[in-house]
Amino acid sequence: MRFAGKTAVVTGAASGIGKATCLRLAEEGATVIAGDIDEEGGSELAATSNGKIIFKRTDVCNVDDIKALMDLAAQKTGGIDIVFNNAGAVGDRAPIDEISPEGWDRTMDLLLRSVAMGIRYAVPHMKGRPGASIVNTASVAALGAGYSPSAYAVAKIGVLHLSKMAAAELAKFDIRVNAICPGFIKTNIFASALEVPRENRDAANVVIHEVANQAQPVKGGGNPEDIASMVAYLASNEARFITGTHMVVDGGITIGPRHSWDENAPAMFDSVQNFVGAAQE
Ligand SMILES: NC(=O)c1ccc[n+]([C@@H]2O[C@H](COP(=O)([O-])OP(=O)(O)OC[C@H]3O[C@@H](n4cnc5c(N)ncnc54)[C@H](O)[C@@H]3O)[C@@H](O)[C@H]2O)c1
Repeated sequence: MRFAGKTAVVTGAASGIGKATCLRLAEEGATVIAGDIDEEGGSELAATSNGKIIFKRTDVCNVDDIKALMDLAAQKTGGIDIVFNNAGAVGDRAPIDEISPEGWDRTMDLLLRSVAMGIRYAVPHMKGRPGASIVNTASVAALGAGYSPSAYAVAKIGVLHLSKMAAAELAKFDIRVNAICPGFIKTNIFASALEVPRENRDAANVVIHEVANQAQPVKGGGNPEDIASMVAYLASNEARFITGTHMVVDGGITIGPRHSWDENAPAMFDSVQNFVGAAQE
């Protein structure tokens, strides 16, 4: 019960990582104010929580909605101790030589401005709360190419630097700020990006999640609860000396080329040799 008597705000709370985090923080005693655009999912989550999770429809692209969510938390409980700025989707998938200005802006609003404004409107309610902690969801896509479309990756590395800047500026209020870089986590984000209708989502997830099970050194793939555990750690007093950094929770997907951990994958050098050999024949 590390969070007994504490108030947490979680965005993107109706599904995946956000939902698992709401459940984890509530299980450890927090009152959770949960925001999402998905009213059906959010209401279902709140309904099964014995009043520990309060849902409010929130579009993180709308600054008024973010402010209203933070104000609701403070009004219900007197202040905010933990914020998890997590809502997101893949955004515009166009390559950099084709993306529209609107697609670029929409992706930045959803993934980067939302986090900045989440901090902006939470902090007035966090000052003077011992152990106050903000956690932001970035991605391994912030660490290199190959994990996501460009706009998403750029927004996510923005989240890493935003977390550092905020940690520096908010240190005087004893508010810690960190980010998490999840790897391939089995949630609805991939089916949503492919616009799979809700009724077909479970079937699509079986296929997508099977890929996730094989994608990294740790077998079985990442679960939303793996990220929720890291949020709970960063939000807790056990992480009191950690601020302005990011935690990579990826089952090792960023270790390096696949052959470095999968003996059945062709070594990169071998493939290059084969390629050169074939070209010479
Ligand atoms: N699943 C992964 O492999 C993975 C990897 C790295 C980072 N992430 C990040 O984790 C976060 C959570 O994603 P997830 O994997 O749990 O996906 P998910 O689709 O299961 O959950 C995302 C939630 O965010 C909500 N959302 C989307 N747009 C919103 C908006 N404008 N306002 C409010 N809520 C909105 C959705 O309704 C959904 O409930 C995202 O920021 C995502 O970029 C996920």
